Amino acid sequence: MMTGFPQTPYLLRAARGEVLDRPPVWMMRQAGRYMKAYRDLRDKYPSFRERSENADLAIEISLQPWRAFQPDGVILFSDILTPLPAIGIPFDIVESKGPIIDPPIRTAEQINQLCPLDVEKLPFIRKALKALRDEVGDKAAVLGFVGAPWTLAAYAVEGKGSKSYSIIKGMAFSRPAMLHKLLGKIADAIAVYVRYQIESGAQVIQLFDSWAGHLSPQDYDTFALPYQQRVVRQVKKTHPDTPLILYISGSAGVLERMGQSGVDIISVDWTVDMAEARRRLGSNMKVQGNMDPAALFGSQEFIRNRILDNIRQAGNGGHIFNLGHGVLPGTPEDNVRFFFETAKQADQLLKHSEQLLAVPA
Ligand code: CP3
Repeated sequence: MMTGFPQTPYLLRAARGEVLDRPPVWMMRQAGRYMKAYRDLRDKYPSFRERSENADLAIEISLQPWRAFQPDGVILFSDILTPLPAIGIPFDIVESKGPIIDPPIRTAEQINQLCPLDVEKLPFIRKALKALRDEVGDKAAVLGFVGAPWTLAAYAVEGKGSKSYSIIKGMAFSRPAMLHKLLGKIADAIAVYVRYQIESGAQVIQLFDSWAGHLSPQDYDTFALPYQQRVVRQVKKTHPDTPLILYISGSAGVLERMGQSGVDIISVDWTVDMAEARRRLGSNMKVQGNMDPAALFGSQEFIRNRILDNIRQAGNGGHIFNLGHGVLPGTPEDNVRFFFETAKQADQLLKHSEQLLAVPA
């Protein structure tokens, strides 16, 4: 075997559709509350904005799961809301309440006052992404991420998370031109922000349109898809080779539509059978996912079986193994370790399980 030559990280090879001995593996929200190291740091630095906007803290937190589990992807510790202050929408994340935007964006005048994104207001992003690349080298890929326009607009208009999205939907269904203006401004800002992340060192970008799964397909086509496309089109113009992943929570009803966004990889939640998802998305689309995050509360035997089932269902090539949504607070760290170890041995474990099946009765 050749040594000393740089290797291309598994995650980038899978993102290009290469057939590998095993899929790369990382976890959404892999840096966070289920880790004791994170909770200890959070006790010392209680402000989420400080943890994510002080570059040294963001670097340290991003590296906690890297040091503990060596995932194939290292995602920047940040939030989808992080760029909003740079267009004139301040926010806070309040313990046990989640994100708060006060005042929420509800009037044409507020939308007119939003400014184009100024990356100089986000210097910690450049510093953190550069440092992550230096630290992980070619052993893993560094991921950046952004919220997609619908989801960011939902936070901006609702002012917080929501179960019904009745305020933004009310705006969509009574003053659509006003909402389209907001979505357009957010899309252009997000495109600038994605380019900035790539230029700072991000090798893959995940777009979270987490709340687009609450839209009817008709409204998805009107308020979510065109703005995903607007971001993707602008980014691909300058950075055609950076793989883009799109994630939506509760996406089963709009999976084919997600494929029209122009991204390279669809991140599938766990309510969809992965083999079916691949058939629905077609052979050119790469996929990510999709084990139920709650499976990590099961026995290790259960976790192992679910991992191998998932990898079998996804088939060889163009699959990035992940959970179907973020890892849940309270997940035993030992099971997270087991998840990564098992996924990284999937080739041997699958061969072994086929031999077991092949043993004549
Ligand atoms: O994946 C990673 O490790 C990167 C970190 C990351 C965070 N937020 C850190 C975070 C990522 C990728 C996000 C994205 C994000 N943020 C999404 C899209 C992903 C998804 O879950 O669908 C959304 C919708 C948000 C908005 C947001 N920020 C929510 C709903 C919350 C949780 C509120 C709560 O208390 O449960 C946050 C805060 C947040 N962002 C936390 C973390 C680790 C928890 C805050 C804490 O440290 O206590």
